[in-house]
Amino acid sequence: MKKILVTGGAGFIGSHVVRLFVTKYPEYKVVNLDKLTYAGNLANLKDIENRPNYEFVKGDIVDGDFILKLFEQEQFDGVIHLAAESHVDRSISNPTEFVFTNVIGTVNLLNAAKHIWKDKPEGKRFYHISTDEVYGSLGNKGMFTEETGYDPHSPYSASKASSDHFVRAYHDTFGLLSVVSNCSNNYGSFQFPEKLIPLFINNIRNNKPLPVYGKGENIRDWLWVEDHARAIDVIFHRGKTGETYNIGGHNEWTNINLIRLMCKIMDRKLNRPDGESEKLITYVKDRAGHDLRYAIDSTKLQHELGWVPSLQFEEGLEKTIDWYLANEEWLQNVTSGDYQKYYEQQYVKR
Ligand code: NAD
Ligand code: DAU
Repeated sequence: MKKILVTGGAGFIGSHVVRLFVTKYPEYKVVNLDKLTYAGNLANLKDIENRPNYEFVKGDIVDGDFILKLFEQEQFDGVIHLAAESHVDRSISNPTEFVFTNVIGTVNLLNAAKHIWKDKPEGKRFYHISTDEVYGSLGNKGMFTEETGYDPHSPYSASKASSDHFVRAYHDTFGLLSVVSNCSNNYGSFQFPEKLIPLFINNIRNNKPLPVYGKGENIRDWLWVEDHARAIDVIFHRGKTGETYNIGGHNEWTNINLIRLMCKIMDRKLNRPDGESEKLITYVKDRAGHDLRYAIDSTKLQHELGWVPSLQFEEGLEKTIDWYLANEEWLQNVTSGDYQKYYEQQYVKR
């Protein structure tokens, strides 16, 4: 039996990865380590929480002693590391938190893996999940490849870039058997409604203003979260040690076009007259250091490992909107309490 540690498994992408691994690999034991910050929610895993090959451990990756003990006790064969502070706007108001979790937390995991695998590294794997934001911002042309130099602009992307460098340094210096992937913007069920798509679905439903940063001309490359989870499965099992794989769906949208499409779908779903939800669009002050464009070239992953995205964006967006409309209780639970304070600081008091 293989024992796999997934960090951040109660978050958006992590919960899809945990679900995929627990259901697809009944012979693996999957341990989900999560601090349950505002972004982590065990309700994301209700459907698989009683599976015999799944275990949840509440804990903080910043606590190095705790991490070392956990690795010594559990003797993991593999690590899929997703735990992170993940929201760019929060990194602008509180950068230090991002250094602790994203940099120190990653180094603690690397130290623990290096320690328990030092005598028997064969068959072990440390898989670090990163983002396309480490590459910086593109102009109108070109795409990020695995060779693109790092040029992070936000405290979030700087902390992710730093953690990527540590993973590669542990591979080169200590021979840690690691692999890294850098993915574009994900969308789908269970995403915390501070991120563009779920935030705007929630606001449209509640007839609240849609705060578009700047002129809405920034471009993001959107990928269905379950396609990301499938790519993680393929890379974890067949990716080459020491390599980097870019993951993306060749699916670029300006924010404003995406927002208009969401408004159109929502008008239909909520039986509103055409154009009604678009009236909620409100242009607000731009995000500081706002990257203009991301676009991922995932040729390497497609050619070497045969992964391809499964879903057209319009279909995925429609499914995502349906999910949020059908899961109002989930939305209400995650947006109660501290989230209200965050929302006021981020948008109302601007
Ligand atoms: P998320 O914010 O939804 O989830 C993060 C999870 O990590 C939460 O469950 C949280 O409780 C947990 N966590 C945070 N700090 C922790 C700590 N100190 N110890 C233990 N657990 C902690 O994030 P997400 O969007 O699912 O992103 C997951 C990973 O994928 C991140 O590393 C992120 O950088 C990367 N990524 C995200 C996207 C995207 O579009 N969301 C794209 C590419 C890469
Ligand atoms: O590219 C991958 C990254 O995608 C991940 O690494 C991050 O964890 C994830 O949060 C995401 O970062 P972005 O900053 O691209 O995502 P966000 O949903 O915050 O914003 C998407 C775009 O929408 C961006 O150009 C900013 C804009 N935006 C966002 C919000 C929250 C607005 O115009 N208004 C908003 O209120």
